[in-house]
Amino acid sequence: MTTTPSRFPDGFLLGAATASYQIEGGAREGGRGPSIWDTFSATPGKVVGGDNGDVACDHFHRWAEDIDMMVELGLEAYRFSIAWPRVQPGGTGEFNPEGIAFYRGIVDRLVEKGIKPLITLYHWDLPQELEDRGGWLSRETVDAFVPYAVRMVEEFGVDVEMWTTFNEPWVSSFVGYGAGAHAPGHADDVEALTAAHHLNLAHARAYRAMKAVNADIQVGLVNNCHTPRPWDPSNPKDIAAAAHIDALANTMWHQPFIEGSYPEVLAPNTAHLTDWSFVHDGDLAEMKGAVDWFGINYYASHVVRHNPNKAAAQSELATLADGHKAGANSPWAGDEEIEFMPPTGKRTAMGWNVDPSAFHAHLLKTHRETGKPLYVTENGSAWDDVVDEDGRVRDADRVDYLHGHLDAVLKAIAEGADVRGYMAWSLMDNFEWAQGYAKRFGIVRVDYDTLERRWKDSAYYYREVLRRRELVPAEEAERLADTPPRTF
Ligand code: FCB
Repeated sequence: MTTTPSRFPDGFLLGAATASYQIEGGAREGGRGPSIWDTFSATPGKVVGGDNGDVACDHFHRWAEDIDMMVELGLEAYRFSIAWPRVQPGGTGEFNPEGIAFYRGIVDRLVEKGIKPLITLYHWDLPQELEDRGGWLSRETVDAFVPYAVRMVEEFGVDVEMWTTFNEPWVSSFVGYGAGAHAPGHADDVEALTAAHHLNLAHARAYRAMKAVNADIQVGLVNNCHTPRPWDPSNPKDIAAAAHIDALANTMWHQPFIEGSYPEVLAPNTAHLTDWSFVHDGDLAEMKGAVDWFGINYYASHVVRHNPNKAAAQSELATLADGHKAGANSPWAGDEEIEFMPPTGKRTAMGWNVDPSAFHAHLLKTHRETGKPLYVTENGSAWDDVVDEDGRVRDADRVDYLHGHLDAVLKAIAEGADVRGYMAWSLMDNFEWAQGYAKRFGIVRVDYDTLERRWKDSAYYYREVLRRRELVPAEEAERLADTPPRTF
């Protein structure tokens, strides 16, 4: 029997991740323009509790202290996103020097403290003006994204090696335009496919333009993965159902950049919806080769089956299993006869299941399919955390989740997957999109009344992983934490 090494390889980056709209606040400060998430959050019924990102974690004012906290945690890397409407309020035209200065401060401090910045250019906060002109349904947005990306590399490319164009374009297109559960809240299968293609095209064009400014940067694309396993692995219809979901969720976001094509099953499976004329001659050729690495965001696993009567059978839990929140429509174009099964096993506060084995399998699969360096750009879990009388947040479930998933990464590396980093989601509790502040993913707790940051047990546990650069047994978490815990 072989045992998995418990040490992370030299050069493997351990860090944490956040995103602009989820933590910054300062929504109307420093010259920031409105984004589709401001509009969506202000629309009654769209976000749980009517929450919005106006204040969020107030990172806009507390960023320097937040970086000091990262230093205390021992983070080697920090993945964050630039809010496009903060640096270019209308999405085209004038850039906003105050917005650029905000990110300059963050980058400089990270570099000074020896924390490697990973910049995401687009984590869902599209300038509202671009949405008003068609958003990702229009090639105008593709054209607008490229000069924004170029300008950011001109500003920060010397200090920042690792860049991501898009975070989870599947969510932007299929949840934002297909299901309607995220901004801009459209519910149309063909719009979802159109937006998906335009996001891929924008990635490819931005990739080439960014590399032309600075050939030393590494430009990747971050995808959320679904791991659709067939309910009955001996049933060809269940296998075909899983293949369709795999194509929409995973392959269509990397095959174009490797082979210059979309997965073969997509056109026939969606022929009743669209002729794919939104793909123009030359688009796929532009995509081929336009990527240096892939980011993988993993949360939960999925089982699907063929079911022609699924409308009656689809449970609320199963609907949750495939995304962030149920919308007016399913996010999966062409899934009229495909059913997501309710998740089995332990479930987080999101209703997502805990399944490190699917993570391990997905890392190996993506390695086989792409041959590119992989970074885990998000992985984590939400739980109904409680502050105990002594001030501690004993989030043993989050510690177990971290332990199990770090172990899965180490196993995948031992079996040959080229995984080069792991960013925990999230550094701190934040605005969880359509779920508002109700779901807490942080290893650091945020009190939304006082904005105080408080280390949960999982923060201490992760600090120890970083210190030793090896998998720390989950049982040690209890004794690693201070009582009362550190607050910032
Ligand atoms: C991912 C998002 C991230 C966060 C986690 C829970 O899909 O990229 O912003 O919401 O889910």
